[in-house]
Amino acid sequence: MRGKLLKYNQEHLLAFFDTLSDAEKESLLNDIELIDFDLISQLYKNTHSSVALLNGNKGEITPIDCIDKDSLNEEEYGLYYNLGIQLMRQGKYAALTMAGGQGTRLGFSGPKGSYFLGEPINQSLFEIQCRRLISRNKELGCIIPWYIMTSRENDQLTKEFFRENNYFGYDKDSIFFFKQGFLPMLLEDGKIVMTDTHSIKLSADGHGGVFKATVDSGALADMKQRGVEWIFVGGIDNILVRLEDPVFLGFLAHNKYKLGGKSLIKRDPYEKAGVFCKRGGKPCVIEYTEISDDMAQATDNNGNYLYGDLHILCNMFNISVFEDMRDCGLEYHVAHKKTEYIDENGKLIQVDSPNAYKYEAFMFDAFEYYDNMGILRVRREEEFAPIKNKEGLDSPQTATELYVACEMKQ
Ligand code: UTP
Repeated sequence: MRGKLLKYNQEHLLAFFDTLSDAEKESLLNDIELIDFDLISQLYKNTHSSVALLNGNKGEITPIDCIDKDSLNEEEYGLYYNLGIQLMRQGKYAALTMAGGQGTRLGFSGPKGSYFLGEPINQSLFEIQCRRLISRNKELGCIIPWYIMTSRENDQLTKEFFRENNYFGYDKDSIFFFKQGFLPMLLEDGKIVMTDTHSIKLSADGHGGVFKATVDSGALADMKQRGVEWIFVGGIDNILVRLEDPVFLGFLAHNKYKLGGKSLIKRDPYEKAGVFCKRGGKPCVIEYTEISDDMAQATDNNGNYLYGDLHILCNMFNISVFEDMRDCGLEYHVAHKKTEYIDENGKLIQVDSPNAYKYEAFMFDAFEYYDNMGILRVRREEEFAPIKNKEGLDSPQTATELYVACEMKQ
């Protein structure tokens, strides 16, 4: 093991080995065994490659067609709604909540889904999603299976939270928890982060890890066994997410799209979110920082932004996409993050600015494997109330205000 670590310049992982108890030794060795050192050293080498350079190889960026939900006439709306309800009743639909993130910006130590919103909502983020599913189940007369992706860091706590709350009244056998994959974080000098003498900082591998994790965990096999054909995939932190929208389902199924996404019109040219577009003729999402000022501001003859449809992590996939993606490893992106670590003397170092690299796969990188996808533009005030930060923009307070305003309208 020491020889292997020396080869990859990671011998510090065993620096305190002789001082550890047997249990600590075993746990550390197990974690080391789980690391793909070739991958890690490759990722570190690529960390400083320019994004522009990487994207430059993938072809020209052009606008993508989106359908505005408000523009559907009564007949189209009815067709999609009824088809969606029919597929749900036939048991061909599942909801999947990605709840494996760290929620660092929120600064909450438990799983983000267990974050409790006080008056007037008085529910945790998990309960909000659960109630939305329960009310659809009542209309359907059947139960939508609900898959919850956790991570190594929050899996136990998430399951306990559900148990303690009696699964919020959901049928326990219709909930399937599964863990996503992980990767070590690296300090700026390429060394794997240790958080104490026997623990390695292994972080969730990004929401793009969802495809591999569903396969590896048996979640995909469970879906197939239940006859599921369509899977909605969303995050835990948008408290207006519609994880049971029959119109979205009917829209994709009727138009024979294998995958789809919901979008919102950006507030201003530089709203900090990815936008849907095409790259080299394939659907994709690019960050606002990846397009030029001219493109960010460009409008059509009616004054609508050409690159104005934001990706809000509300996607739906035919199960075949999960099967396709199983073998296509998505590229990892790097984020510069803050993390505490122990130094060579075993002293815990706290930091107040980013000091380490975290590698994550993004779910939307899967889009480029397909020729087209269905994008349904929805109203921001009805479907988007994210909780990202502790205070200010996209905080529990702003999300609560949006949620209350939406409830009052209905
Ligand atoms: P974010 O990208 O906002 O990340 O996740 P986050 O971890 O919640 O928050 P920060 O960046 O640390 O502050 C969007 C959604 O994707 C899920 C999150 O749980 C959230 O629902 N996600 C993200 C995962 O399930 N796994 C991941 O590895 C990353």
